[in-house]
Amino acid sequence: MIVCICHRISDREIARHARAGMGFDDIQMELGVATQCGCCENAARDVVAQCSAAQPVAALRGIPVRCCGTQPSPASCTE
Ligand code: FES
Repeated sequence: MIVCICHRISDREIARHARAGMGFDDIQMELGVATQCGCCENAARDVVAQCSAAQPVAALRGIPVRCCGTQPSPASCTE
């Protein structure tokens, strides 16, 4: 579903960025969501809040969490 009509940004795109650990302000700068007419801000914030609070990215997608880029998870990271 398109959340931001002005920039044609979908809820999926916002969710993908939120699950990657980005907050609303970062997503706003990255995608331009809620930077034109502003009508989408509440909906976009809701998507970010749901994704940020619900699950971390790694749990959702099975993506290894990398804390330093050299180890597959923080538990095995020695840096
Ligand atoms: S609908 Fe998102 S800025 Fe206009």
